[in-house]
Amino acid sequence: MKFNSKLIHAGYDSSADSQGSITPPIYKTTAYQFNNTEHAASLFALQEFGNIYSRLTNPTVGSLENRLTELEDGAMCVALSSGTSSVMYSLINIMSQGDNFITDTQLYGGTFTMFTNILPEFGITSKKVDTTDLDLVEKSIDKNTKAIYVETITNPGLVVADIEGLSKVAHSKGIPLIVDATFTTPALQKSLDFGADIVVHSLTKWMSGHGRVIAGAVIEKGGFEWGNGNFPLYDTPDTSYGGMRWGHDLGDLSGVAYSLRLRTVPLRNLGANMSPETAFEVMSGLETLGLRMERHCQNAKKAAEYLSDHDLVEWVRFPGLKDDPAYELSEKYLKGTGGTMVVFGIKGGKDAGQKFIDNLKMFRHVANVGDTRSLAIHPATTTHSQLDDEALVAAGSPPELVRLSIGIEDIEDIVDDLSQALDSTK
Ligand SMILES: Cc1ncc(COP(=O)(O)O)c(C=O)c1O
Repeated sequence: MKFNSKLIHAGYDSSADSQGSITPPIYKTTAYQFNNTEHAASLFALQEFGNIYSRLTNPTVGSLENRLTELEDGAMCVALSSGTSSVMYSLINIMSQGDNFITDTQLYGGTFTMFTNILPEFGITSKKVDTTDLDLVEKSIDKNTKAIYVETITNPGLVVADIEGLSKVAHSKGIPLIVDATFTTPALQKSLDFGADIVVHSLTKWMSGHGRVIAGAVIEKGGFEWGNGNFPLYDTPDTSYGGMRWGHDLGDLSGVAYSLRLRTVPLRNLGANMSPETAFEVMSGLETLGLRMERHCQNAKKAAEYLSDHDLVEWVRFPGLKDDPAYELSEKYLKGTGGTMVVFGIKGGKDAGQKFIDNLKMFRHVANVGDTRSLAIHPATTTHSQLDDEALVAAGSPPELVRLSIGIEDIEDIVDDLSQALDSTK
């Protein structure tokens, strides 16, 4: 099946359902009856796959996991309670005290805080560098570096990552490239096909689209050599799992060692599982992802062109504009669309930015992106208000920056709303 068909059909077979339900039923159960003690023992020993307890697996969540695996051209997926828990688990699944990873200076705010304040409490540190500079990335890798981690498009700077280039650097050092593909979704970029090893999603955004649930997932490409000596968690016997050496003892399943460990170690013992209701909601939204992304991208381009010509606009960043610094990367990694986000600098700085937001009528003023609705925020007075002007610039979010997540409404209404809100700042 091709992409848009997979969005609707992959991962769930209605003819195999006892009632023939055309949408995956919501299995509201905590536990699953074993056939006998032998069956229970073989499930626990990973000799047989099957349901034990809904923190570990659930059939509704499983349908979503299978669908996401197919959509990303991956080998296995673990769905989780949020994008945030997915970021965290994707890293702690391969790192422990004393380890570090390379990441960018520009990251989603919650991820930045996790990397700067939370993970170091557990002895895992990040080296934040400009990841568009591949030489710098390579030089920053040391013997304790376990991964390169980037966002496919940064927020709010809209820097497009060079996935192929970064994966080559990572693989030359025997470490994986992990990407947060929330801003691209597999409709714009198949990150695993470009060389990434692990994809992380906040499914809260474009993947669901309706703005009703918080959800996340981690998808593995499969085949990475986790037993290559760089990952002690995959070499030494795991006392929490019957002495399993995850990088060596899995036989035919060794290609998905990362996902099996993610499910049976962090997920089983820390518990950020997705509920079946949430999986159902995500799958409902996913059905229209292809159509929505097409419309999001068309609207974003038109909004960016409109803003570029406006007297009250200082500058516009949209990777799909020919003079944008990310234009070439957008051609390669975003199917030439430029994506769905537009950021711009408003004349009059912070005060004008605030006034613009207060006067928007159809755009919703929220700390979110990726909804069917058009959304706007002025980071300097909200998400980044703790930073002074110098720090705002360093975070890729100067005081005059306004961030727009362009929705799928009629473009005339989007432009009208931008126009009247800009006029109010005169
Ligand atoms: C790029 C990115 N990654 C991760 C997250 C966290 O996702 P969630 O809100 O689902 O925990 C967000 C949230 O805005 C995000 O924008």
